[in-house]
Amino acid sequence: VVTLVTAIAAGVTWTWSAADVSTVGSTEFTRPLRIPPVAESTVDSTGTRVFALDMRTGTTEFEPGRATETWGFNGGYLGPTVRAARGERVRVQVRNQLPEASTVHWHGMHLPAAMDGGPHQMVDPGASWTPEWTVDQPASTLWYHPHPHGATEDHVRRGLAGMFLIDDAPSARLSLPNTYGVDDIPVIVQDLRLRGRRLDGAHTIFRDIGFLGDRTMVNGTLSPYQEVGDELVRLRVLNASTARIYTFAFDDARSFAMIGSDGGLLERPTTLDHLRLSPGERAEIVVRVRPGERTVLRSEKLQAGLGFWSNRFSGGDDTFDVLELRAATTLRPSDALPQALVPPSIPDGTDSVTDRRFDLTLAGINGERMDMGRIDTIVTRGTTETWVVRNVDGMPHNFHVHDVQFRVLEYGGSPPPPELSGAKDTIFLPPNTATTLALRFDGPADPTTPYMYHCHLLWHEEVGMMGQFTVVEPGQQAETPPRHAH
Ligand code: C2O
Ligand code: CU
Repeated sequence: VVTLVTAIAAGVTWTWSAADVSTVGSTEFTRPLRIPPVAESTVDSTGTRVFALDMRTGTTEFEPGRATETWGFNGGYLGPTVRAARGERVRVQVRNQLPEASTVHWHGMHLPAAMDGGPHQMVDPGASWTPEWTVDQPASTLWYHPHPHGATEDHVRRGLAGMFLIDDAPSARLSLPNTYGVDDIPVIVQDLRLRGRRLDGAHTIFRDIGFLGDRTMVNGTLSPYQEVGDELVRLRVLNASTARIYTFAFDDARSFAMIGSDGGLLERPTTLDHLRLSPGERAEIVVRVRPGERTVLRSEKLQAGLGFWSNRFSGGDDTFDVLELRAATTLRPSDALPQALVPPSIPDGTDSVTDRRFDLTLAGINGERMDMGRIDTIVTRGTTETWVVRNVDGMPHNFHVHDVQFRVLEYGGSPPPPELSGAKDTIFLPPNTATTLALRFDGPADPTTPYMYHCHLLWHEEVGMMGQFTVVEPGQQAETPPRHAH
């Protein structure tokens, strides 16, 4: 890529790129994939599992001998994998050692609004915040990241993100690859641009999508390979990029099984040969390897109805070599995947009491830009709603709802494909498409604290594609929150 111009406008740095980006075929996989450590925890006298996450500045050697300034949780870049079981009470001691205020949001978690870590739960520099909740949702691959309004893209891009895995008894009874870091691998995919000692955050001009990098890394490892000793390997893929949308496939176009989506395991495995993930989405896939072989997880061109201009805007013609799997010459045999996984835990919409419509454009949601002091939507605890979400401008967007896992009833005018049939909290919306979602709000009511819904292309969220909803008891009023969280 040729970067010709860098300018600073309205607090955002812009760069101009002349060509599509590709690292396909030019990546030498020279570094073993870093596996984020499982977060240490203690259990207190009440049985609560206690974690500590410190948000810090630091440096990371993405390339040997070159220290890059980064942010991380408990370390230089990214954070440990937090792991807890359904039914456990958890408490996280969050400390902010950054030079600016931030938050920690538990993406995909069903929990009280005051524990959600959205823009109303700001943690000042030097301060701490200790959310506590009972994990009550199926086994799944969730994640955590900052959510300060106006700085989320910046804080995530600098390195603040980590996985949050939930375990439960039904998933433990299934014969699935489940040895963390061995046949059950976290795959946190991010794009970046290295410039000197810095992770460059400049936006690409004429691509109204926010930051797009010129290469990718996994778990903070550039050009990563992972050695595999089992016939079946489970990849928990998280798109933790700030704006980039990936279409994952293997270099030899082999098929793989998808077993889980954002909110947990599917009803049954589904066979795919490519998989699109927009920012914030997760997928658990299982791939079979043959002894001694190498295969590369790639991101291919987006295509799939995005249209020429949208592809230009989104970097949809860019391609990346993401991760090489290196199979040992002798592999441990793996159990065949179960035909059936778990029964659905998501609402089917038949008991829906309210229909709502959300029209997404870069100018806002339903014509309104995010206002911390305005509640956009009030829902009643214990009810199911049907939301029609439409992307009505020429740009790619997605839609993420806090607190709930929803069912996709319809996608682009059709029943959802298998990969969108399970529990979702984030859904990609190509330009000029609509989706219909069923959402059940069965958490505790809190009329004073809103949850968020937004486009998870983080710069779009930043410029106003976000709204607030409050869960109330029947007949209860919602209170307007303060415009500023401090
Ligand atoms: Cu992953 Cu509201 O965020
Ligand atoms: Cu968007």
